[in-house]
Amino acid sequence: ERNYKISVIPGDGIGKEVMPEGVRVLERAAGLYGFTLDQTWHDFANCDYYARHGQMMPDDWKAQIGDPHAIFFGAVGWPDTVPDHISLWQSILQFRREYDQYINLRPVRLMPGVPCPLAGREPGDIDFWVVRENTEGEYSSVGGKMFPGTPREIVMQETVMTRHGTERVLRYAFDLARTRERRHVTSATKSNGIAISMPWWDERVEEMAAHYPDVTHDKYHIDILCAQFVMNPDRFDVVVASNLFGDILSDLGPACTGTIGVAPSANINPERTTPSLFEPVHGSAPDIAGKGIANPIGQIWSAAMMLEHLGEPDAAAAIMRAVETVLAEPGLRTRDLKGSADTEQCGRAVAEALS
Ligand code: NAD
Ligand code: IPM
Ligand code: MN
Repeated sequence: ERNYKISVIPGDGIGKEVMPEGVRVLERAAGLYGFTLDQTWHDFANCDYYARHGQMMPDDWKAQIGDPHAIFFGAVGWPDTVPDHISLWQSILQFRREYDQYINLRPVRLMPGVPCPLAGREPGDIDFWVVRENTEGEYSSVGGKMFPGTPREIVMQETVMTRHGTERVLRYAFDLARTRERRHVTSATKSNGIAISMPWWDERVEEMAAHYPDVTHDKYHIDILCAQFVMNPDRFDVVVASNLFGDILSDLGPACTGTIGVAPSANINPERTTPSLFEPVHGSAPDIAGKGIANPIGQIWSAAMMLEHLGEPDAAAAIMRAVETVLAEPGLRTRDLKGSADTEQCGRAVAEALS
């Protein structure tokens, strides 16, 4: 029976504006492709909830979310009212950890007709995946302060990498490369400067690579890797990175294809013992929130990734065809892509282009 329970969490800022467009496209896809959606909208994990309750989510948030087939998430953060480290650690970062969504899968693709900020690049030249470790690494709350407020003040924060956590993200990246034509993995490292964890990461990459003789691999230090994303984006196929490096690369990659506004992500628990979560890469964009001009494509593309995960590949592919049709049309694109449409016009255009 193709009925999917979806938890919908819009969040803050433009999250609340792009979410209705993502849902509009999902509902239209459901009608066309013969499945149904059972949506539960949650009014927590946003900074208005924090203003009322002094925390981002109810204590029993897990019970309230229950056991959906997937979570569809917008964006969280309103730094004017809640410090970012509180709003994010009590929402999206908590979901990723509590649900053990240890893969953050983020495509980088230049779409036909989209103005590319890099000279001379055609669609097809830029088409790769960033596989970001999503539960450990540089994102830890391990550390502390000493002698606060004095000239001797010290602050320390640890990077925590586990063998289990590192091997499973590397394995995922090599498995993903196997499904691709070029079968190539690039590892983001910094083993010259980060002299304990990153040489160890490099060793784990070599060990994993030995199990995949049919997949080629290389590595770049993160600094030059950023430069390579700009100079030679055609070089990449699957890029695997630690939590922080993957975060940086997954804004840089989409920016090289026109805008971060189109970029989606899948926070996946591959074992499917817990729900996976689908969200745009971008944040709540306070600078444009409330104007109705945000690009909804990141949310819509995230819907396509969610349908792929749910086992509806035809509907997912249909959404991507509709996205391509709309992106190629300046009158249907939003302003971040030199278009003239607003959020709702763009979202409606994708829904109407679906077939
Ligand atoms: P941001 O992604 O919200 O915005 C960065 C820039 O990109 C802004 O100029 C914004 O206007 C633009 N932009 C982003 N999405 C866009 C879209 N869909 N269409 C058009 N333009 C778009 O990043 P930020 O400014 O660093 O963060 C703002 C808030 O969002 C902070 O609270 C931050 O912590 C949070 N944040 C949340 C998530 C998440 O929920 N997963 C992700 C990133 C940032
Ligand atoms: C992302 C965001 C988050 C991250 C922030 C908001 C904590 O930038 O999803 O890329 O760093 O993971
Ligand atoms: Mn980010």
